[in-house]
Amino acid sequence: MRRIRLGVNVDHVATLRQARGTTYPDPVLAAGLCEMAGADQVTVHLREDRRHIQERDVRILRQTVQTVLNLELAANEDVLSIACDVKPDLATLVPERRQELTTEGGLAVVGRETEVSDVVARLKAAGIRVSLFVNPDVEAVEASARCGAQQVEIHTGFYAEARGAEQALELKRIRLAASAGARLGMSVAAGHGLDYVNSRAVCAIHQVEELNIGHAIMGRAFFVGMQEAVREMIALMSEEEVRHRAR
Ligand code: PXP
Repeated sequence: MRRIRLGVNVDHVATLRQARGTTYPDPVLAAGLCEMAGADQVTVHLREDRRHIQERDVRILRQTVQTVLNLELAANEDVLSIACDVKPDLATLVPERRQELTTEGGLAVVGRETEVSDVVARLKAAGIRVSLFVNPDVEAVEASARCGAQQVEIHTGFYAEARGAEQALELKRIRLAASAGARLGMSVAAGHGLDYVNSRAVCAIHQVEELNIGHAIMGRAFFVGMQEAVREMIALMSEEEVRHRAR
């Protein structure tokens, strides 16, 4: 039975800690709770400006995560050398701008294939699986395959923000990008802006194998607790799966 894997992004826990410069709340503890509730992967983004996750978090998580550690990073020397040293199970290359609230767009792969291929090769040589976070665009997915990526994570943020007919169009773009990824032999993940309502339609896309979700789960965790928030998301994803198979 196909079950979509859930990667939980615990960056927001670190954001709260950094707001006061305290030692709590600890994203390492959050990651353990997520795993105990059934998460299949822990995702963290080590940003160049270290606004939330710190190098210390990544190094400890490498020792404590029992499922899969997915490190999101931009292609800059500082974080690349940390990644090659820490060796997460999966590295997801994302674009990064200091002014942004969160990752705003997919990685520019088309037209930058030599540069991206070099980074992919360097991470793979360190024994790390590589995923590229790209816009829901078939050309970007095809370019990712040419760069040697083993996975693409399709940016669902545009879909999450769209409404009505526009949202249906965005979902179609995700579907086309997902089928291109699978056709080219890559694993297909999706993420950004997914919540307890809009993730249902993404779960119904046959080629999607993994979702990475942060904000919605952390927001719910405030009220129901971390483990309950993760369990509710997994239940929703499984429910959607059952419905999809019954169609
Ligand atoms: N996937 C990627 C590549 C991301 O950069 C982020 C945000 O850090 C997420 C998934 C999770 O997005 P959200 O917090 O909106 O669920």
